[in-house]
Amino acid sequence: MNIASIALPRIFRIGGGASKQLPEVLASLGLSRPLIVTDAYLMSSGRVAELENGLAAAGIAARAFADTVPDPTVASVDAGVAFLKAGEHDCVVGFGGGSPLDSAKAIALLASHGGAMADYKAPHVQDAPGLPVIAIPTTAGTGSEATRFTIITDEATDEKMLCPGLAYLPVAALVDYELTFTKPVRLTADTGIDSLTHAIEAYVSKRANPFSDGMALLAMRAIAPNLRRVCGDPMDAAAREAMMLGATQAGIAFSNSSVALVHGMSRPIGAHFHVPHGLSNAMLLPAVTAWSAPAALHRYADCARAMGIADEAEGDQSAVARLLDELAALNRELEVPGPAAWGIDAARWEALVPTMCAQAAASGSPANNPRVPDVEEMAMLYAQVWAG
Ligand SMILES: [Fe+2]
Repeated sequence: MNIASIALPRIFRIGGGASKQLPEVLASLGLSRPLIVTDAYLMSSGRVAELENGLAAAGIAARAFADTVPDPTVASVDAGVAFLKAGEHDCVVGFGGGSPLDSAKAIALLASHGGAMADYKAPHVQDAPGLPVIAIPTTAGTGSEATRFTIITDEATDEKMLCPGLAYLPVAALVDYELTFTKPVRLTADTGIDSLTHAIEAYVSKRANPFSDGMALLAMRAIAPNLRRVCGDPMDAAAREAMMLGATQAGIAFSNSSVALVHGMSRPIGAHFHVPHGLSNAMLLPAVTAWSAPAALHRYADCARAMGIADEAEGDQSAVARLLDELAALNRELEVPGPAAWGIDAARWEALVPTMCAQAAASGSPANNPRVPDVEEMAMLYAQVWAG
């Protein structure tokens, strides 16, 4: 039997101003004592105060933990758990980009179940829920608001631990593109490419299914024509709205299919060299797609068609050639640096390649790729990406 296992947040509110509906969404879930998990930027910009004021007006007192870090670590999550336990909370509101959202999921889990985050990394699957999580993304985006995953870095081993299971699926997601107008261009480009990568990988994954396919194609249709637009004009409301919707659709797609080789090889680059997640994906996407495409030509050709860069009637080979050209052009136009240009030391990169290959393989993501690499092939791809 071929049965797709689909899981989604119970509640979505999608559209400009959706984040203002937090009080009524909490009420509808019977929740009243939220901990907001966010970051220092959103705190200092007054965004958290806006959220708190909305809650206060509805008679809901919230506390805010703003000490999450980019690529959240075990220590930063533990600090959040301690903060939560110093108050009385019945839910966690993740507010921010992927790092605050992933932190919120981990804090909500450990607050209920205890233990260390490393206990929960793949292949462990954590389905029994922790505290309910309500996700409000401010980037478009990691799609974390719609996924059953969190990614926490073990700072002792520099490993980005992929932690899967229904426990990490938010109960509600408030998807409000108006929160993304102030996103800087670099972050807009990196998070947008991350979303595009989610959609492509979900579609070509061995775990793809008709439900995730539909979401992945919708995401590509939304993201591809709007990525350059939002980078060129941050206040383009229609393009911001499409990117935000596309990011959430891409999150739904990969949460119900999987990511694949790009993400598998990207996490170690992020963990060891602190390259932002979307950027390390972007560095890998053209080379990994070119290497993988012969194993799933028709699927990659569909991606090109959904992205509007190949004609519906065009043959697969030619459509895939257009996809590869487009991915290279995106990187050029959005000024994605290679690893060397980003400042990574050549000797350190070289020395870490075997570790990165082992960590990529251990995450399980490469095994979902249409073409599954052995360690030598992954090392060859890392070398190709280094050479640019
Ligand atoms: Fe991602």
